[in-house]
Amino acid sequence: MQTTYLTTPIYYVNDKPHIGHAYTSLATDVLARWKRLDGHEVFFLTGTDEHGQKVEKAAQDAGMDPQAFTDQVSQSFRTLADRMGFSHDDFIRTTEPRHKAACQALWLELLRRDEIYLGHYEGWYAVRDEAFYGLDELVERDGVKYAPSGAPVAWVKEPSYFFRLSKWQDWLLDFYEKNPNFIAPAARRNEVLSFVRSGLQDLSISRTSFTWGVPVPNDPAHVMYVWLDALTNYITAAGYPDSAAERWKFWPADVHFVGKDIVRFHTIYWPAFLAAAEIAPPKRVFAHGWWTIEGQKMSKSLGNAIDPLALIEEYGLDPLRYFLLREVPFGSDGDFARAALVARNNGELADALGNLANRTLSLIQRNCEGKLPAVAERNAVDDAFFAEIDALPATVGDLLAAQQFHLALEVIFTAVRAANGYITVQAPWALKKTDALRMAVVLRHLHSALRVYATVLQPFMPTTMAALLDQLGVPEDARQLAALATPLPGGTALPPPSPLFRKIEAAT
Ligand code: MSP
Repeated sequence: MQTTYLTTPIYYVNDKPHIGHAYTSLATDVLARWKRLDGHEVFFLTGTDEHGQKVEKAAQDAGMDPQAFTDQVSQSFRTLADRMGFSHDDFIRTTEPRHKAACQALWLELLRRDEIYLGHYEGWYAVRDEAFYGLDELVERDGVKYAPSGAPVAWVKEPSYFFRLSKWQDWLLDFYEKNPNFIAPAARRNEVLSFVRSGLQDLSISRTSFTWGVPVPNDPAHVMYVWLDALTNYITAAGYPDSAAERWKFWPADVHFVGKDIVRFHTIYWPAFLAAAEIAPPKRVFAHGWWTIEGQKMSKSLGNAIDPLALIEEYGLDPLRYFLLREVPFGSDGDFARAALVARNNGELADALGNLANRTLSLIQRNCEGKLPAVAERNAVDDAFFAEIDALPATVGDLLAAQQFHLALEVIFTAVRAANGYITVQAPWALKKTDALRMAVVLRHLHSALRVYATVLQPFMPTTMAALLDQLGVPEDARQLAALATPLPGGTALPPPSPLFRKIEAAT
């Protein structure tokens, strides 16, 4: 069986989850579900990043012990994952023993290969990003220096272990060239290339001014730099350092999904660490864009961070999942506006898809005694209608393989609109008296089309599409992509239809 390994970033537990976190994991979930539908054995990993200065400080601010604090916040990410319907196979926490063991094993391997040396770090550090910056990257306002992310930086001076990153510069450039799909989209790839070409310095990979981290083996005055610790999670979960582990077959990961803020860590440091330990690098890193809220940056200070749980409550889970991936091209920045969600829900889900299903299934109930008409020949008009539909699974598969979620939904809904055109022109309700045979054929064709839409939409809207497949009489073991090749037998009894989506009143 083909294997697929997909990951989300592991989220910092300094604060409650918001819509940005839900977004990355949602995209990963949709691809994981698609691959399973396509017969792959999938390993989908998510989790929380619990060490470092930023989390330690958040715990202090909350007046809590860091472990108790991370236990609590990590749970809120788990709750989010459950409520968003994510189908992850593992949820990793970096404070788990398995992860500490993997980090220490990787460290010792790098040390053994002389990729690490002890030195002294002096430079700029942003706790918010947990990142080191060169002076040339900073801007100064009112006497405070800021990183390009907007995070304030502070001067750090402490003993530190270094990773020989500079040594891997040429190797990285060669790797990017040989693997043009490693970084997507192209704009991000170009940024990374120019950053690496401008020259890499060795990377500080331990800290001594605080203790909340994985202790460096044989030198416990140091804790590992949180990004070395965090990135390692992707191999911890695959069983590292045990290459005989059951899950090691999944490595290298097929896609690491990340936001554009953390591309540098995933596409420069991570493959370099791995190459230095002679571990295969991941196949691809996709960096999506940034959500703003009603035109404004989402931030703690503005207090406008959107709680995904409240949105689920308000609009329902599947309309939210649909909207997030439909509204904005995956890879671009986008704005979260409630009016846009309402418009998509009402126009595309309730009107185009919901009404099509309801009209078709009601006519089968009323005019065909609730029994699916037999498989029918296609005339020329039907052939034209089906050309697009027959190609849909392959087209959607190609678009998802390129992480083009919005285009996948666009082609599906173009096909749904074509079916609305077909039902209007064929007018099966009028055929009852004039040509009952043709009426049955048209309804059967519409049913076949709906089965395709429901099947390919399952990864996006699992609950609603399960309900639609129930209404279409498709047995649970016939919901894979491959099952589309086998038509349902004529005469299958269909349950009376009920509405799939509700229209939302726009707020005035
Ligand atoms: N802990 C690190 C990642 C380590 S991975 C080995 C981290 N965590 S984070 O909690 O800050 O989450 C960052 C990720 O959350 C981003 O890369 C992105 O995937 C998502 N988002 C956070 N805010 C976002 C938006 N406003 N918009 C879209 N996604 C955003 O960085």
